[in-house]
Amino acid sequence: MDTLRAAVTGPDIRRAKGQRRLVMITAYDAPSAALADAAGVDMLLVGDSLGMAVLGRRDTLSVTMEEMLHHCRAVSAAGTRALVVGDMPFMSYEPDPRTALINAGRLMAEGGARAVKLEGGVTAAAQIRALTAAGIPVMGHVGLTPQRVAALGGFKVQAKSAKSAALVLEDALAVQEAGCFAVVLECLPAGVAAQITARLEIPTIGIGAGADCDGQVLVFHDALGLTRGHSPKFVKKYADLGSIITDALGTYAAEVRAGTFPDAAHSFSMSEEEEARLSQALDAVAGKRA
Ligand code: KIV
Repeated sequence: MDTLRAAVTGPDIRRAKGQRRLVMITAYDAPSAALADAAGVDMLLVGDSLGMAVLGRRDTLSVTMEEMLHHCRAVSAAGTRALVVGDMPFMSYEPDPRTALINAGRLMAEGGARAVKLEGGVTAAAQIRALTAAGIPVMGHVGLTPQRVAALGGFKVQAKSAKSAALVLEDALAVQEAGCFAVVLECLPAGVAAQITARLEIPTIGIGAGADCDGQVLVFHDALGLTRGHSPKFVKKYADLGSIITDALGTYAAEVRAGTFPDAAHSFSMSEEEEARLSQALDAVAGKRA
């Protein structure tokens, strides 16, 4: 039975390289985490995409530790088999390894995450080493790193030249050497991601990085058609839940306005005997106040 299967761990993900393809989706609350877990995904990323997908922000930079903790707690409350990975928000790890340790520790202890993810390659290696030495499984994230969107000049495909692809490989090797159990490759030409994947011992999880990564990740709201406006080219919409929700709520509104909801099937009743006494009992109260 599925419910008796052991929870997925960081080391399980590491061992999956070359054995099976890995599936990760973001989750920000308990019901969506439970639905994704029932679908059999391997990992739930409480991404800082929270800022854009759920909190209506323009980018991820303003997402705070307290917000990440709040949503990590909600996702881990679902008690999923899938590994819950908590994303480290902007400036929660960059200053130094000690800051990274304190905040990653909070995502694990207070948020219930069982691994953390942070962005950056060579420059994040000291932080990753400190976390893994403390027993915190870490997922890396290289290529397009949205927390550096200001420095990168926008959400753009990275590594479009051989020289810049070599720098992304250096970043991926640095996070592998520092102890990551897997690494996200974001927005890279498919051929670059394929060659980097072939040169790494840890699994690569692609987003906008082609089919030859060891696994894929998508943002829950993008994959299910809950995102309004423009979606990046790499997003595939597996359902149009946005339209289903709007139609359903339109029907609800129409029924309320027409007086057809709630009907008898959605209302409570009392016994005929009590109903017969009702008017008299209520009139007596109203009479006392008059
Ligand atoms: O925050 C997030 O959702 C992410 C994924 C896009 C990998 O970092």
